[in-house]
Amino acid sequence: MRVPQPIEWTTDGVVMIDQRKLPGELVRETYTDYQGVAAAIRDMVIRGAPAIGVAAAMGVALGVLRSKARSISELRAELPRICETIAATRPTAVDLFWAVERMKRRFEEVAGGDLAAVRAAMVAEARRIHEEKRATDEAIGRFGAEFMPPSGVVMTQCNAGALATAGIGTALGVIRVAVEQGRKLRVLVPETRPYLQGARLTAWELHEDGIPLTLITDNMVGHFLKTAGVGAVVVGADRVAANGDTANKIGTYSMAVLARENSVPFYVAAPVSTLDLSIPSGAQIPIEERSAAEVTHIRGVRIAPDVEAAHPAFDVTPAKLIAAIFTEYGVARAPYETSLAALARQATGSQANFKSRENIAGRP
Ligand code: MRU
Repeated sequence: MRVPQPIEWTTDGVVMIDQRKLPGELVRETYTDYQGVAAAIRDMVIRGAPAIGVAAAMGVALGVLRSKARSISELRAELPRICETIAATRPTAVDLFWAVERMKRRFEEVAGGDLAAVRAAMVAEARRIHEEKRATDEAIGRFGAEFMPPSGVVMTQCNAGALATAGIGTALGVIRVAVEQGRKLRVLVPETRPYLQGARLTAWELHEDGIPLTLITDNMVGHFLKTAGVGAVVVGADRVAANGDTANKIGTYSMAVLARENSVPFYVAAPVSTLDLSIPSGAQIPIEERSAAEVTHIRGVRIAPDVEAAHPAFDVTPAKLIAAIFTEYGVARAPYETSLAALARQATGSQANFKSRENIAGRP
C-alpha cells in the first residue's frame, strides 16, 4: 500500500503537504505557530475531516508549546484564544471540534503538573491523535471491504483518502483493503467541482497506489450509475447526525439519490470522531459556504463572467439513502439512532479503558 502522509509533527513545527498544489507539485510547508496552522486549515492546505482534526490538535499543541506563558494559570488564560482560533476555521467537519475538545480535556487532566510537563503532554496527545488514524482507518477498511463486490466498478466522491485522514483513508481505505484482499476493483472518480478533490487528489492517490480508476466529470455520475454496473458507492463524511443523516462534499446527496434510483448500495465510511450525536438530524449540520471565486475561477483562471455564484461546500444525504455506515467499531445499519449510539458507547468504553491503562503505565 502506498499512502501519502499529509501532516507530520516535527521539531521544526507542523509540516503539511500543500494539497492545493497537487498533483502538479508535491510541496511541504512548515508551520511554526498556531495561527499558521489555522490559516492552513481555512485555506485548504490540509482538508478532509479527520486530517483537519489532526491539524487542529497539532495547532493547539503548537500554541501551547510556543506560548510565552510562565505559569499554568497564564497558559490556561491563553488556551481559549488558541482553541477558538483553530475552531473558527471550517464549520462543517466535526472532527475539528472533536480534536479541540480532546486537547482541552487533556490540558485539564495534566494541568496539575509543571509547565514543561504540560507542554510535553499536549504535544504527546496531538501526536497520539495522529497515530490513532492509521489503525482507525484500517479497522474501517476491514469492516467496509466485506461490502465491496468481488470485482467490478465502485464509485466514490471527493477525496476520502490518506490525504484526507492522515491514515489510509476512510472511503479509499475501504477500497484499499478490498483490493489488498484480492478484489479486482476499478474506481469511478468524479472530479468534484469546484475544488477538484476527485481529479487532483483521489486520482493522484489511487494512481500512485496502483489501483485502477476512471476519472469522470460530476455530471457523468448518473449516466455511469445507470450503465456501468456499479457494485457500490462508498464515500467519506464530515459530520453524521444521530439519525444517520450525513454531511459530505457537495454532490454526495445527488449521487446517493441516483444510486438509489439505480439500485446501487450507497455506503458511508467514517470514524466515530465524525459522529455528532448531539444533533438529532442533518438539518442542524452547519454547511460551510466558501468563496464564490472558487466557482467562478479554477486555480486563479476566470471561467465565468463576473456574476453571483453560490458555493455550499457540503450537502446532507438523508439516512434513508444510506445502506450502512462503516466505523472502526463496526457497521451501523438503520435504525441509525440505536446503531450509532451503540457504536459511540463502545468507543467511549474503549477510550476509558485506554486511559486507565495509560494512567497505570504512569504516562504524562
Ligand atoms: O472540503 P474538503 O476537501 O475538506 O471536503 C472533504 C470531504 O468532503 C471528504 O469527503 C470528507 O471530509 C471525508 S474525508 C475522509
